[in-house]
Amino acid sequence: MSNDTTALNQQNTPLDHLDDVWLFGYGSLLYKVDFPYLECQPASISGWSRRFWQGSHDHRGTPEAPGRVVTLVEEPGAVCHGLGYRVTPDTFAHLDVREKNGYLRFFTPMSFTDGHSVDGLVYVASDANLAFLGPALLTDMARHIADSHGPSGSNADYLLQLDEALQELGAADDHVAQLAIRVRELLE
Ligand code: SIN
Repeated sequence: MSNDTTALNQQNTPLDHLDDVWLFGYGSLLYKVDFPYLECQPASISGWSRRFWQGSHDHRGTPEAPGRVVTLVEEPGAVCHGLGYRVTPDTFAHLDVREKNGYLRFFTPMSFTDGHSVDGLVYVASDANLAFLGPALLTDMARHIADSHGPSGSNADYLLQLDEALQELGAADDHVAQLAIRVRELLE
């Protein structure tokens, strides 16, 4: 698969026939909201875990020295907490470019805190994409994140802002929190 998923997302899941679409955000979409939305609510999806297993060539690293950012990996019984944004379909012209480094979007059930659920779009970078890095020791991932930088800023900022956003949401994530502790120690 090519690294640039922009065209693939627009071909595979056209949205023009819809008035609005729910988007599930679990990574930088929680704190870098550079798109308009109609509504935003805490939401979760089941069967997925957030992991710093995706390489970033365009935001928090470069093709020569990729950073480490989050994707979702399938895990039966897991629940991933994040935010649901209700957006107009044209918003995806921007989001598809922002998430182009290996992320494919697809519809999946997402639940809100009042118990109701809808099908929403989520961007996931699978292990089939060329930028996928996969698991590593926590200490190695922390060192990698502490050392990486890209056009959107430092990889440490990506991690620490995500950790804070999840805490503010009341949805602290152990994988993210453990990495944040180690990266803060490395930066001191
Ligand atoms: C997301 O935030 O939902 C996608 C991954 C990212 O941009 O960090």
